Amino acid sequence: MENISSIRHIAFIMDGNGRWAAARGLPRTAGHTAGAKAFRNIVEYCGDLGISTVTVYAFSTENWRRPQSEVTAIMKIFSEYLGYAEKECGKKNIAVRFLGDKSPFGEKTAARMTALEETTSGNFFTLNIAVNYGGRADIVHAVNKLISDGKKTVTEDDITGALYTAHSPSPDLIIRTGSEKRISNFLLWDCAYSEFCFSDVLWPDFDAKELDRCLEDYYGRKRRYGGL
Ligand code: FPP
Repeated sequence: MENISSIRHIAFIMDGNGRWAAARGLPRTAGHTAGAKAFRNIVEYCGDLGISTVTVYAFSTENWRRPQSEVTAIMKIFSEYLGYAEKECGKKNIAVRFLGDKSPFGEKTAARMTALEETTSGNFFTLNIAVNYGGRADIVHAVNKLISDGKKTVTEDDITGALYTAHSPSPDLIIRTGSEKRISNFLLWDCAYSEFCFSDVLWPDFDAKELDRCLEDYYGRKRRYGGL
């Protein structure tokens, strides 16, 4: 049994933007704008805490089914974030990686995403942004990659090494905000031994204090990895 000493990787399902906006009589897109601000603050705080890998679920393979106006608004927020990241991530020692197939974002945006990955690679903190990401799609993509490499049979290590997350350790802790208690196709392979924390706070209100509360809960647990 392992006492929990430090977190290397924390992942967030940032849920509740729409409800946060509705509670204020605002359009859902205002919730996503506030959510993007909370996201920047939390990444910064995780850096202050020395957590070396942070992963966020920003847009799933299923989120394309939302009304076009909402998808367009999220893409605009994402594009604005790219501009911010291009300026700030170098200064903050953050290496940005995108999890998911970039092609649906269009050539120009996909090229910006790849350029950001390249210019920030080697920085100390890793920020994985899951966009157009699905846990099942990630596993299928990994297996197809292995098949095209000529593999006839695969091991667990082969799949782990072919995922979009191959460069990161498995998440120690996955936090979902917004009261729902499900995984929603996030990091399906990676979460085998992750701890989970479900917060009732809506993502735009999720702050350092609420993260501290989740961490206190996490540090009170023991991890057994299937042993005794
Ligand atoms: C879930 O809340 C949130 C999303 C599907 C989008 C998340 C996007 C952001 C936080 C902003 C952009 C991200 C980056 C990386 C800049 P919901 O809309 O499902 O909320 P609800 O359950 O209350 O309806």
